[in-house]
Amino acid sequence: MSQASAPGKVILLGEHAVVYGRPAIAVPVAQVRATATVEPVPPGSGLTLVASDLDRTVHLAEATPDDPLAAIAFQFLAHVDLDDLDACVTVTSTIPIAGGMGSGAAVSASIVRALASFAGAELSLSEISRLVFEVEKLHHGTPSGIDNTVVVYERPVYFVRDKPIETFAVREPLHLLVADSGIPSPTRKVVGMVRKGWQAEPVRYDFLFDQIGDLVEEARNAIEDGDLYTLGALMDQNQDLLQEMGVSAPQLDDLVEAARAAGALGAKLSGAGRGGNVIALVEEELADEVERELQEAGATRVIYAVV
Ligand code: PMV
Repeated sequence: MSQASAPGKVILLGEHAVVYGRPAIAVPVAQVRATATVEPVPPGSGLTLVASDLDRTVHLAEATPDDPLAAIAFQFLAHVDLDDLDACVTVTSTIPIAGGMGSGAAVSASIVRALASFAGAELSLSEISRLVFEVEKLHHGTPSGIDNTVVVYERPVYFVRDKPIETFAVREPLHLLVADSGIPSPTRKVVGMVRKGWQAEPVRYDFLFDQIGDLVEEARNAIEDGDLYTLGALMDQNQDLLQEMGVSAPQLDDLVEAARAAGALGAKLSGAGRGGNVIALVEEELADEVERELQEAGATRVIYAVV
């Protein structure tokens, strides 16, 4: 038997603009994970994938290449030059689905890792990340690559599309509350909506993206300096720009306001938006209070992560 896992992630700043070449910062959230287990099956049975949380079973021999669960297995087999494998992969996850926490990428990453270990194949982090990215394209359309990078490397990253990954030092721990609005956030749809907006009004959108890119640069310095007050203020400014871009939602705005009113240093939506999560940067002693207020304001689940 082989088992492997991958964490969830949140984008601290820079979502959407990152699709257009601006930088973004994302961090792993180890408190929630996807775990894949691979067990042998009788010879000739082929590869089966079971997603117990989703109540889905896929036999690779009968699957279409664009099936998101089968796709990562197809990618892996092609990469290691195998036609099939007699094995059963079971994947479970505690990462909220469609909530901007990279659940799809983490599920794919855990499957590749577990399959590689089962098949005795040694894959580098960059190889795993690339295979996961191929599958992300099916989910997202035009993903930036940030999700696969963070969940595979499991380190905070400063990410620029098509550039080598950069990790950086976090001087003071970041205490984050990740509050789920309970509204699904269909990344592909929201990314498509932003693209339409950009095509219709390129100058306005490029200016929004540039401003977000500048905030991200400042945020990286603030994190390296341990200046959490500045980081919080930058997150607030990023939220304003995301609102202007039209990717927030009344429920997300309510959660952001609740967190700020309870003393969060900063709060914003995280991920594609329109639903999904809000993140709040808090001082440790206020974490409980902010968490209560987020729940009061309608959060269906709040994850406390220290990065
Ligand atoms: O966090 P997610 O999975 O919702 O990803 C959204 C991040 C975007 O910047 C909106 C898209 C991307 O591919 O980077």
